[in-house]
Amino acid sequence: MDLTLHIWRQKNPDDAGRFATYQLEGIRETISFLEMLDILNEQLIEQNEEPVAFEHDCREGICGSCGMVINGLPHGGQKGSTVCQLHMRHFKDGDEIVIEPWRSRAFPVMKDLIVDRSAFDRILMAGGYISVHTGSAPDGNAISIPKETADLAMDFAECIGCGACVAACPNGAAMLFVGAKIAHLGILPQGEPERERRVRAMVEAMDKEAFGACSNYTSCEAVCPKEISIAAIARMNRDYRRAFFTDRPMGSGKKRQ
Ligand code: SF4
Ligand code: FES
Repeated sequence: MDLTLHIWRQKNPDDAGRFATYQLEGIRETISFLEMLDILNEQLIEQNEEPVAFEHDCREGICGSCGMVINGLPHGGQKGSTVCQLHMRHFKDGDEIVIEPWRSRAFPVMKDLIVDRSAFDRILMAGGYISVHTGSAPDGNAISIPKETADLAMDFAECIGCGACVAACPNGAAMLFVGAKIAHLGILPQGEPERERRVRAMVEAMDKEAFGACSNYTSCEAVCPKEISIAAIARMNRDYRRAFFTDRPMGSGKKRQ
């Protein structure tokens, strides 16, 4: 198929940026979207032009690095898919494709399609972990966890930190990402002792970044390639409220999930 690509080109964070138009011919529908961009870049290099900078690593939907907006939709709008899982069979001959970086104040554009997502890293450093002493590997069954609890934690642990939720949100909110990280640790018994400290620290770290607040548009859930439910946000709000406004320490009393 032959395609016309309109791609955001921006030399560095200070450059105003602009769309550049490229023609590609003979693209096979069996290749992936990123392979199509690889072909474009090989052509640009042959023409002594600067290739398009875009992030990618695993190319199998698990690392979260490949985010970009395709025809107005983060990750291209295929349900439950990252850009690297998007294939050219979803396009047709003659299509015009507009490709942009995430657009959000908290994710400044570094170059072309690459944004700086270190705001996510700072939130994770504030509390997105459990404190356990390392040593010899513990017995896998030392703490038994009901399957439903493990499954629920896994639903939230699937977040790959790609940032599509922020890019899709009219408020630029990061609450689906932060809620998923808080939920997957807090649901498991290993994460319970630090549940209160974690939710406070991560929400405060989020508030220091340039993210907006959730007002229930639910665009985040709609574009999330891992189909993380906005229940994560409700859980985060509940934990934060409990950590702040009740005397009862978290981890005491009735078992919560
Ligand atoms: S919640 Fe979904 S969209 Fe947001 S960072 Fe995680 S995987 Fe990406
Ligand atoms: S390259 Fe890793 S999720 Fe796309």
